[in-house]
Amino acid sequence: MYHRQYEEIMVAEVGPWAKEKLDILARYLDFYTKVLKNQPWRTIYIDAFAGGGSAKVRIKNEPAATFDLLEPTDSQDGEQEEFLHGSPRVALDIANPFSRYVFCEPAAKRAVELNELEAEFSNSRQIKLLKVPAAEGIAWVTSQAISKKTHRGVAFLDPFGARLEWSSVQSLADTGLFEVVVNFALNMAINRMLPNDGDVPVAWADTLDRYFGSHEWFEEVYSSDAHGLFASTEIRKRDDYSERLLELYRRNLKNAFGFVSTPRLIRNTRGAPLYYLLWAGPHRKGLEGADYILRMGDKLPKIRKGST
Ligand SMILES: C[S@@+](CC[C@H](N)C(=O)[O-])C[C@H]1O[C@@H](n2cnc3c(N)ncnc32)[C@H](O)[C@@H]1O
Repeated sequence: MYHRQYEEIMVAEVGPWAKEKLDILARYLDFYTKVLKNQPWRTIYIDAFAGGGSAKVRIKNEPAATFDLLEPTDSQDGEQEEFLHGSPRVALDIANPFSRYVFCEPAAKRAVELNELEAEFSNSRQIKLLKVPAAEGIAWVTSQAISKKTHRGVAFLDPFGARLEWSSVQSLADTGLFEVVVNFALNMAINRMLPNDGDVPVAWADTLDRYFGSHEWFEEVYSSDAHGLFASTEIRKRDDYSERLLELYRRNLKNAFGFVSTPRLIRNTRGAPLYYLLWAGPHRKGLEGADYILRMGDKLPKIRKGST
């Protein structure tokens, strides 16, 4: 069933920083599938916030700004318009494919693009397209006949803002077979729901409770000082609330999965922080691979189209 409410957030354009995220994803999926190549398990890839097949990026013309995931299309003064392959195609294109791909996308127009992608790969990849919100899609996957004995998998959790529910992340961890790559949208979304005076609107507080799986975030962001004889309390936003929230989420991931990566900060073109990519999973080997790829960070070599 299509969900009309998702249409309003249709975004045709993404920032150039999306390339960095997708490059890291491609490298991790490549590492993961190589490691599991000669193992007996069936492998599953879930893209719980799949998006469409591609997105438009505007890039200021700067030397060495080209990238392997991009198809340059148009050139204007000082700006180049390029099409970026979305995460579903990035995952479908890897050299050692997963046994099964599950894409969740409730926005009808984007689901149509995914239908086209499904048709394009129908001979070579097994794809299940779920036109539902991530929570429903993940619940569907975890209710299937999958087990640690027979399956392994990766879930890419890349929501707009704080739409990812902790209960979904926990249910993936509970299978014991999934690793996750999470977009922790600290600066793009979460910090915007935290007014200085601590008077967080109920709807935002509910969203944050669902995102973190408890109300613990509030204590990490705000402290209360008792004043005067009648002990009136003043709510104060902590200076280090961002770091505390990041650590809270990492702690939750570690408790759920066993291992959590160092965070990889993604910045916009002016250097302002946007979000963190985090990996979590049940195996040390996955952690080592993820940490290596995430730590490469800013030093990721710029790959020019046509280079080997
Ligand atoms: C950040 S975009 C995904 C970008 C994509 N992962 C990529 O890197 O190419 C988030 C997508 O999630 C979809 N979406 C919004 N709410 C959702 C929900 N509750 N469950 C699943 N998808 C949702 C939006 O329609 C949007 O396409």
